[in-house]
Amino acid sequence: MQIKIETTPVEQLNVDALAVICFESDESPSPLLSAQNGWLHEILNSGEFSGKLYETAVLHRPQGAAAKRLVVIGGGKKATFSAVEARRVAGSLIRSLKSKGVRSLALAMNEADGGNVSAIAEGAILGSWEPDKYKSDPKKKEKRIDTFALCLSGPVSSDVQNAFEQGRIVGEAQNLTRDLVNEPANHLTPTDLVSAAREMTTAYGLEIEVLDTAAMTRLGMGALLGVAQGSSNPPFLIVIKYRPSNPASSDHLALVGKGVTFDTGGLSIKPADGMEKMKYDMAGAAAVLGAMRALAQLKPAIAVTAYIPTVENMINGKAQRPGDIVTSLSGKTIEVLNTDAEGRLILADAITYANRNGATHIVDAATLTGAIGIALGHYNMGAFTNNEAFLAKFMAAARAAGEKAWQLPMDEEYKEYLKSAFADLPNIGGRHGGSITAAWFVREFADPTPWVHLDIASTAWLDDGKAWLSKGPSGVGVRSFVQLAVQWTKA
Ligand code: BES
Ligand code: MN
Ligand code: ZN
Repeated sequence: MQIKIETTPVEQLNVDALAVICFESDESPSPLLSAQNGWLHEILNSGEFSGKLYETAVLHRPQGAAAKRLVVIGGGKKATFSAVEARRVAGSLIRSLKSKGVRSLALAMNEADGGNVSAIAEGAILGSWEPDKYKSDPKKKEKRIDTFALCLSGPVSSDVQNAFEQGRIVGEAQNLTRDLVNEPANHLTPTDLVSAAREMTTAYGLEIEVLDTAAMTRLGMGALLGVAQGSSNPPFLIVIKYRPSNPASSDHLALVGKGVTFDTGGLSIKPADGMEKMKYDMAGAAAVLGAMRALAQLKPAIAVTAYIPTVENMINGKAQRPGDIVTSLSGKTIEVLNTDAEGRLILADAITYANRNGATHIVDAATLTGAIGIALGHYNMGAFTNNEAFLAKFMAAARAAGEKAWQLPMDEEYKEYLKSAFADLPNIGGRHGGSITAAWFVREFADPTPWVHLDIASTAWLDDGKAWLSKGPSGVGVRSFVQLAVQWTKA
């Protein structure tokens, strides 16, 4: 889908659909709407439309406009309309109109600031994404909108133009993440994830280095290799470097993403019901890849390195057993009490490696625990830290990017749940506070570097579509990562 800013007067826009936002009890809707001969009045009085968020009504061949259709979309209460709503309005428009024969769409706005403009670009791009790659009947594929224009009146400042461009870049990066997460595990093994990373870094001019089994064995990444040994698909650690031409400081941000391309649970096998969803156990890795692509284009003033450990958690004759003790890269020994707690094992070695390679700040994203969905439901990522100031910085970025995260506690007491009689630490705690013990396990390898851990197990995949977003991979994390790097020196 092509997207652009348009400054042609709205009446002259020759598009399949021209959309205007109408707020609840809007006293002065757009002049174009007032011109519609009482139509607005009629739909408002009939109860067909009230301005409620994301509600739409369509008028064919509107008076005084070149567009084939006029679409009003509810903006909710004008006072609380922000970038969050703007993003969803754009996505909802795309999603409701693409199946109705609309190929070109314009959204006219009376006023728009930089925040709304980038959110609209993102929302439109995100709304255009569908998980139908593997449907072979073209009739069963969702129809696409070819062009989307944000129609603004008057001259467009370079700030607004840049905001729109940033929104497009970030939206497309998030869709790359969703493409990768959507791939089934037979189409996306660790080797395929490496190919996808190489393709991206070659196209966007980033440096990449890939550690294979031999290299990881030499280094002593026993925790990661232990998980991988049950699969005939070999593991990798992908390292991608973005370096600014004018670094604003000596800070060095590491983004670490869990890349389990399929998680059977290993010998501590998962129930059959729902196991198919474990293809999304590499959503953290995909979010980091998407973010790196956007950073290569947006060029923030901070050095960022991505560390992506990627393995398949399978069960062949060489598979790791419960009770096995592995030696991690850090030297700490780990008793593997449950082979299904594999994410933290691969993160442990990747984070130690990030620390050894000069990270001054670490953020990891991982579909780490089912328990995070019990605690927070599907709307917030779980956020954990060893450094409140760094978490505050991350939270500000997430808020600005329109992603939700909620902090969970990391009191020292929870660490007591991680006790092993036979090794330095076990890979699971007890039944309680499962997301917190998982975070504490990871923290043992991040300390003392300022670190934020995001548990995205319940937010990376949408079981139900929304008006503005299809079901399937959400691409969560990408926007926060990009925003964190972009506003690093500004906050
Ligand atoms: N990949 C899973 C976590 C997960 C669950 C992701 C549901 C997405 C949806 C992770 O590797 C896992 O299996 N975690 C275990 C940990 C347990 C063994 C301590 C879990 O949450 O059950
Ligand atoms: Mn698991
Ligand atoms: Zn997993």
